[in-house]
Amino acid sequence: MPVGVFDSGVGGLTVMREIIKALPDEHILYFGDTARVPYGVRSPETVLKYSVENSQFLMSQGIKLLVIACNTSSAVSLETLRVTLPVPVIGVVEPGARAAVALTKKKKVAVIGTETTINSSSYEKAIRAIDDSISVSGIACPLFVPLIEEGWLEGDVVRLTAEKYLAPVRQGSADTLVLGCTHYPMIKEVIRDTVRIALIDSAVETAREVKRMLGGQGLLRAGRGPAKRHYFVTDSPEKFIRVGERFLDHRISNITKISLDSP
Ligand code: DGL
Repeated sequence: MPVGVFDSGVGGLTVMREIIKALPDEHILYFGDTARVPYGVRSPETVLKYSVENSQFLMSQGIKLLVIACNTSSAVSLETLRVTLPVPVIGVVEPGARAAVALTKKKKVAVIGTETTINSSSYEKAIRAIDDSISVSGIACPLFVPLIEEGWLEGDVVRLTAEKYLAPVRQGSADTLVLGCTHYPMIKEVIRDTVRIALIDSAVETAREVKRMLGGQGLLRAGRGPAKRHYFVTDSPEKFIRVGERFLDHRISNITKISLDSP
């Protein structure tokens, strides 16, 4: 059976890219809720409702493990999906938080993400559940998502935006910065140049966790033949393919537009 991955849109393809690197033989179903993106500006209740619907769709296709590739969805829906779904569920927040705890020497971590992720304090809670002597500060960076989707991955606009958002990190004493949004790995170099501290890429950490979980439960694909990948979107596939191929670093074919029943 395939691994199911969902996100609010194209962003989760940065997580899928890392899963493909770590587990090239796994079949993957990717669901991007492109009709209702962005999630990062919506209320936790709405994001939870969408996340439940997305995961139910993937369950109906038959999956052996669910990855919530969206930071905002992970922040507000992980617990609910874990207790309600009959398959293992991995979000992006816990793996990123664990890596930050392992890396910070000064016990000061900064997190950047969407408004809803930062307001949920989910990274802070996950980090402090492991080590409550670590202080965590969060900064919402809402303009990064549209800039990155426009393909503005370098140049003055993204650099100035990064300088503005990340000034508190530069002036503060955190030694580790968590990229708490699917899109941010696309501008990792700009962020690294701006803050000059260690970065945690939640996508990379999540792919490691998927590998560990599948291996630990004896669920790794043993079959022969190439891995199959199928994409589902809730709005027209053209933009998803155009923007998504940059995120995924692979060609996107085998894509189906579906409609979830609720508005
Ligand atoms: N995928 C979202 C996240 O990681 C970013 C895009 C959105 O706001 O929907 O938080």
